[in-house]
Amino acid sequence: MMLKSALAGATALASVILTTSVASAVTVGFSQIGSESGWRAAETTVTRQEAETRGIDLKFADAQQKQENQIKALRSFIAQGVDAILLAPVVETGWDSVLEEAKDAEIPVILLDRTVAASDDLYLTAVTSDLVHEGRVAGEWLVENAGDEDCSIVELQGTTGSSPAIARKKGFEEAIAGHDNFKIIRSQTGDFTRTKGKEVMESFLKAENGGADICALYAHNDDMALGAIQAIKEAGLKPGEDILVVSIDAVPDIFQALAAGEANATVELTPNMAGPAFDVLEAYLSDGTAPPKWIQTESKLYTQADDPMKVYEEKKNLGY
Ligand code: AHR
Repeated sequence: MMLKSALAGATALASVILTTSVASAVTVGFSQIGSESGWRAAETTVTRQEAETRGIDLKFADAQQKQENQIKALRSFIAQGVDAILLAPVVETGWDSVLEEAKDAEIPVILLDRTVAASDDLYLTAVTSDLVHEGRVAGEWLVENAGDEDCSIVELQGTTGSSPAIARKKGFEEAIAGHDNFKIIRSQTGDFTRTKGKEVMESFLKAENGGADICALYAHNDDMALGAIQAIKEAGLKPGEDILVVSIDAVPDIFQALAAGEANATVELTPNMAGPAFDVLEAYLSDGTAPPKWIQTESKLYTQADDPMKVYEEKKNLGY
């Protein structure tokens, strides 16, 4: 009896421990765009690490660059009854109905690194850099370093319709506005990938007198810039000298290019968006504290003067 009741007591206790530990494990669905760039791969790595450190059960969905896959993933997370959703939205528009569904299900959604053109009561907060500012910093570097000669610029845009592509173009154009010697002569999407960056740069070089008429390249991310650097070299020109190269992300490989003098400047985008996101999510889930609608991450400019190989060593094992 005693034993039986002791056993009964023990099993009851065990089930309480069991249920509470399972109950307290927060489940978060993460709809990631894909792995188009080294930066995005690092964001995925860091998000997994941050979740593991906090005992969060992370359900990961790779959308292969497709919005319909992300919408499908969000609906599946809602059906599973997750506690929260992280969304890196591939493009800005088309999210209202699925975000409404998450809201109806009382599942908070946090946007990572990109924004949506939807009313901000449809998501808990957005953890992003100031995307316009990044473009402005890149443009200001060029204005300050390319001199007073006429400077024809070619631009590799990010994914069409994505908030970084729209905002980084706007910021850069704001920075060169009023400096009539700077003109964007060609602009096309490279989908944030190295392969497409190289391909489009090859077409720019062909169209602009083998590149002799191009003064600078502005790429919305480093991966496209690194592809373009390859194309510039294959065209027999010196990237970083014959054609200046300025981009965004600060992935490790761009620091090797900076050290080799083949790139000139990059604006850093931290891959750790999940840390700040989980911090505010934990507060929200525990006592309902509503975070600000925007949590801004820092944007730091790096140039050849910033000991690039030291930075390369610091970053090379961070999952890029
Ligand atoms: O949204 C951020 C952008 O997405 C990064 O700058 C780029 O590398 C990625 O594709």
